[in-house]
Amino acid sequence: MTRNLIARSAATALLALIANGASAADGAAIPQRVEALLRQMTLEEKVGQLHQLSDKEFITGPESAERRNLESDLRAGKVGSMLNVKGAADTRAVQAIAMQSRLKIPLLFGLDVIHGYETIFPVPLGEAASWDLEAIEQAARIAAREASASGIHWTFAPMVDIGRDPRWGRVMEGAGEDAFLGSRIAEARVRGFQGAKLGGTSSVMATAKHFAAYGAATAGRDYNAVDMSDQLLYETYLPPFKAALDAGAATFMNSFNTLNGVPATGSAFLQRDILKGAWGFKGFVVSDWNSIGEMVPHGYAADLSDAAAKAITAGSDMDMESNAYAGSLAQLVGAGKVDVKLVDDAVRRVLTKKFELGLFDDPYRFSDAQREKQAVNDPAHRAAARATAAKSMVLLKNDDGALPIKRGVKSIAVIGPLADARRDLEGGWIVKSHAERVVNLVDAIRAQAGSGTRVSFAAGCDIACAGDGGFAAAVAAARDADVVVLAVGESWEMSGEAKSRADIGLPGRQGQLFEALKAAGRTPVVVILAGRPLVFENVAEQAKAILYAWLPGSEGGNAIADVLFGAVNPSAKLPMTFPRHQGQIPITYQQYQTGRPVTDPRDVLYKSGYIDMPNTPRYAFGHGLGYTTFAYRDMKVSQDTMKADGKITLSFTLANTGAVAGTEIVQLYLRDPVASTVRPLQELKGFQKVVLAPGKQQQVSFTLNRDSLAYFNRKLQWVAEPGRFELMVGAASNDIRLRTNIELTD
Ligand code: BGC
Repeated sequence: MTRNLIARSAATALLALIANGASAADGAAIPQRVEALLRQMTLEEKVGQLHQLSDKEFITGPESAERRNLESDLRAGKVGSMLNVKGAADTRAVQAIAMQSRLKIPLLFGLDVIHGYETIFPVPLGEAASWDLEAIEQAARIAAREASASGIHWTFAPMVDIGRDPRWGRVMEGAGEDAFLGSRIAEARVRGFQGAKLGGTSSVMATAKHFAAYGAATAGRDYNAVDMSDQLLYETYLPPFKAALDAGAATFMNSFNTLNGVPATGSAFLQRDILKGAWGFKGFVVSDWNSIGEMVPHGYAADLSDAAAKAITAGSDMDMESNAYAGSLAQLVGAGKVDVKLVDDAVRRVLTKKFELGLFDDPYRFSDAQREKQAVNDPAHRAAARATAAKSMVLLKNDDGALPIKRGVKSIAVIGPLADARRDLEGGWIVKSHAERVVNLVDAIRAQAGSGTRVSFAAGCDIACAGDGGFAAAVAAARDADVVVLAVGESWEMSGEAKSRADIGLPGRQGQLFEALKAAGRTPVVVILAGRPLVFENVAEQAKAILYAWLPGSEGGNAIADVLFGAVNPSAKLPMTFPRHQGQIPITYQQYQTGRPVTDPRDVLYKSGYIDMPNTPRYAFGHGLGYTTFAYRDMKVSQDTMKADGKITLSFTLANTGAVAGTEIVQLYLRDPVASTVRPLQELKGFQKVVLAPGKQQQVSFTLNRDSLAYFNRKLQWVAEPGRFELMVGAASNDIRLRTNIELTD
């Protein structure tokens, strides 16, 4: 008996050694090594691989009632992954405990590295406004470099949910409202996080989240139910996920919402039919925080055990913080209620990633204190954060060339509750604040204005702006200034998860602070900081210049000053429509034509309009100005008819007609005017960033093929229907400069 035990443990150790010896580079051998390891695992150890727990210090969801014996569970191989453990030292220490387990299977450390690790980039929606895929990829690369050195293997990003309701606080984390732009950004972020291939120590696994349709939460209320047609799901909400998958996303996270009555976490339609079936996804799906457990309050599972059975059956591989799998999966298998093959499949997927990351070679290879120190302090990272932030800021309005501020003005008054903010500039979802390193806007303006300019500051009120007690001092500070800059908007805590707002106006009386300055004859240049589109009609109507700076990150103050003084010519374009009023929500440029369209906003009788305001937004998708002007001319198409297997190239001339160098984001839209289902009035099909010196021009071209014209029909087939298509090229969805038609012939 004893001899048997010794022999068995020797064999186990040998197999563990073989398994652990797999090289990250030796991709071909991974499946065999996974199988060898799987054969050695008890059912409890398998379930352990599917169990993910958060560190206790730093939690990102409601704390689970059941506190556990973490250390002994780690030692017993009952935990496969942890989130929120960070830093080379801590990850190393926790990994060392897991390495005392029988099979020495390394832990995966996951973390929400959303818009930077220690060097903070603009919130993702802001970064999306740059439409700059290289800058976005680079931001993710830098975040990966910093996070991976501090022991992180896996980021819960990118969030690729489409957002069309700015009341939903999580629009801050996404790339806006459009499937095409969102897909390109999803790819860039996945490439950035993962690098060329998993296994390098400066790459982290990406997570495409939240699968799926979470962005359509009813009434913009977080975690709320979603009801939508399959066509809208396929056409708008799924493409960024598919793009992330095609770019190699190693993992997916499911979502809190129900979709047409079924919690996404328990949806076999989403996770098995689409993701692992039709799309052939080979990575693993992690649940969202307690989303398996939440199927009970949803009314979809009777208890935690029922929830576990439903989730594993539906294809959720790893349980984040529900304790549902750890508590019930083994019994469910024992009782014949869950087929062990489902568990094996999930474990196989998780182990495969651990092998690909090289963790069986060296479980500590990511936790490198020296590399961590270098990476998080690399000045090149801060330079990139500054450049990206400046590229993300949208110049919404600039009448009479109010911006840029001329250097050498005698005095500038910087007013507003966000003028001296530091922490707020860093934005909503960061793992470590370094507010002390952030240069606030007043100081950044002071630094760039030069010694001849007097810069004064008065907040006027705090962000909540409940009273006007500080307005008089603000007006006094502004009174004799040549230029007044007003910085208003949201705090970092007003957008993000569980930060839905029913009223998305400027908080409190901030709008009145603007009015007070205007009444004193000191109409300010307005800088708005926020994690979502806000409604600010009085400012939009009366300000001469408005710069929408989002929550711009560690270097945000400097980057705003770069744009205000013209060191950077703004080029960003809105990735999300800005409504005039929250009554217009949900709002998108992808409107459908009705049978009773409004042609004249003054005449809405029996028309599809509002009697109290236009249908049009305040600022349209794709809108954004700069300090120069561009002319679009001479559009040509290579031919005006196309066969199903053909291509058409459309080209035109773009000229910088202003006095300074600038970057234009040219946009290509399409309309299919008659189809077997009604198509949107416009769909983005391409964009390019073109840099031009003043007086220079360039030929710009786009190539279209059948896929550019296709859509999901009622049977969810990807079809391109013969007929005429309208092509529109312009500077924004509502600023179309050139149009033409093409025809698909068969
Ligand atoms: C969020 C996810 C996040 C997870 C882990 C959840 O509450 O919805 O986006 O990745 O927590 O922090």
